Amino acid sequence: MANPSIRVTVIGTGYLGAVHAAVMADQGLTVLGVDLDQAKIDALAKGEAPFFEPGLNEVLERAVSSGRLTFTTNLQEAAEFGDIHFICVGTPQKAGSNAADLRHVNAAVDGLVPNLTQDSIIIGKSTVPAGTSKALEERIEEIRPRNIQVRLAWNPEFLREGHAVKDTQLPDRLVVGTDDDEVDARIREVYAKQIEAGVPYLRMDTATAELVKVAANSFLATKISFINAIAEVCEQAGADVTALANAIGYDERIGKSFLRAGVGFGGGCLPKDIRAFMARAGQLGVDDALVFLKEIDNINLRQRQRVARLAAEMLGGNVIGKPVAVLGAAFKPDSDDVRDSPALDVAATLHLQGAKVLVYDPYAMENAAAAYPPLNYVESAAEAVRDAELVLLLTEWEEFTALDPVALGELTPARRIIDGRNVLDPKKWREAGWTFRGLGRQ
Ligand code: UGA
Repeated sequence: MANPSIRVTVIGTGYLGAVHAAVMADQGLTVLGVDLDQAKIDALAKGEAPFFEPGLNEVLERAVSSGRLTFTTNLQEAAEFGDIHFICVGTPQKAGSNAADLRHVNAAVDGLVPNLTQDSIIIGKSTVPAGTSKALEERIEEIRPRNIQVRLAWNPEFLREGHAVKDTQLPDRLVVGTDDDEVDARIREVYAKQIEAGVPYLRMDTATAELVKVAANSFLATKISFINAIAEVCEQAGADVTALANAIGYDERIGKSFLRAGVGFGGGCLPKDIRAFMARAGQLGVDDALVFLKEIDNINLRQRQRVARLAAEMLGGNVIGKPVAVLGAAFKPDSDDVRDSPALDVAATLHLQGAKVLVYDPYAMENAAAAYPPLNYVESAAEAVRDAELVLLLTEWEEFTALDPVALGELTPARRIIDGRNVLDPKKWREAGWTFRGLGRQ
């Protein structure tokens, strides 16, 4: 159990902050979660996650009922609560630009720092462009109470939605940017449990820590777009990208993960992070170094168009008025997040082309309907598929990968399917009478 006399705040309780706050409190720290959104705070205070994340409700409930996890919307209360403050607010893409919008980070610092009542450490976890810490340090210096010392470190987060609890309890590494030994020692106390469990603790300067995060996400995006580009070639060459990915993945230098070709990457991180990275490189005068990320982005967005084109092709060139089932709305399984979701994007494209699109997702329906109201949302896969001229599997929920092609085929005489995630066994589906198309395979 970590030391409960360590009192930390977590500012921003979205997909990152809510999990961080819950896990830190569950591991023994005394934690105050802070968010502007009253409804979110009310749910969290009752021990209920305001979004779907496997395992989070259990950890939240434990942490809240232990009395070590409380919530507020008041930054002044946060400033007085403890001396370690994590910044976990969102850094979305700026409207009309590729750059990251740092307004929530700046607002958190501006709201917190003038109210501090003791020497404090601010630990940034949000994904930010290189150089943000330096700029924030100057801002903090201007607004801090004159009798109080405020130090800043950067500690990027690598959790994956759908695995966020485990990734926070036992991350594959801790990256900490600070040149201050005392700050380093305090952060080691906060992460005592992880360090004890053998998680590598990597200390570096803040600029490197900031860059580690965007470099990691850019590498992951590059892997996915690489295999999607190869998938395009495979289709024309009569090859199978799933067999190819498996074969190249045996080489340890390449590895098998993140080589699943399909409708491509989405979510609140990879797409905006590669764009923000390019924008920052431009500001630093090294745009040429990251020009390749533009192509990574292009390949990724092209996958969505390719799926929509394939759908039209399978429907004889015209989708108008045709019932189409879309299985999946979340950007990935085990999440209800629909931010920049490839599934929803393809569903919306087909809807705009005139198809009658019926969407079903086990957990993301509410968010999908809020993000894209004109689609028809139905209550089950069977309801979406019944009498559909075409079925598209676009988020690989286990519920969909386990579908029985024979039983499903009885609902839809047309029996046409696009496996947009390359997770189904084409042989099984073809044997059950389906016209089956995957991406990058015959
Ligand atoms: C990503 C990173 O994986 C995390 O390490 C990072 O902390 C996080 O962003 C963040 O910056 O906060 P996440 O957005 O949760 O995590 O999702 P991923 O698991 O990376 O998947 C991203 C997208 O790539 C999904 O749409 C997924 O379907 C797609 N994907 C993934 C593929 O198309 N093919 C693959 O082989 C793997």
